[in-house]
Amino acid sequence: MSVKDFNLEQFIADARQAAVSENPILSAESLMKATVADCENIIANMPVIEECERMLFEDDTVSIWYCRFEPGTVVPAHDHQMHVVVGVYQGAEEHAFFDNSNGEYKEIKSLSLGATEVAKLSPNQIHTVTATNTASQALHIYLGKLSTVERSLFTFDSGKEIPFSVENYEKLAQVNSLT
Ligand SMILES: [Fe+2]
Repeated sequence: MSVKDFNLEQFIADARQAAVSENPILSAESLMKATVADCENIIANMPVIEECERMLFEDDTVSIWYCRFEPGTVVPAHDHQMHVVVGVYQGAEEHAFFDNSNGEYKEIKSLSLGATEVAKLSPNQIHTVTATNTASQALHIYLGKLSTVERSLFTFDSGKEIPFSVENYEKLAQVNSLT
């Protein structure tokens, strides 16, 4: 039995506090680890969210998102320009990481992140995400204001860097669904 039921409002309050603490990355990571460790508790108490992604809170210091990824759909490669802490509470996220630092775009590693697991991403890391077998559900803490930061998308074939915008994102998502 859980000591305390998961409460989304409390999680948001705790994540906001972590973001302005002395060591935001470590604080956000330990909050996320403690939260998703009891993934059944989150599943039982998380409000139903219809859309695949929803911004739960944002200010200048932190952006908190709910993210659901579907098998068969690959999110276009992108960076974040800020630190990110990802915590999966259902299913598994499949990440592929890319590097373009030598003028050559290539996949450098993959990571399967299952329920109860947490990953930290650095500002310049480029990744794509999909889910294995069933939809994955996760909470993401971005240590900055994600909606206004200037960041990039990368085309699937050559990894050409283009500005992150809703229009460009949808174009790439469409290309991906045709292949
Ligand atoms: Fe991402």
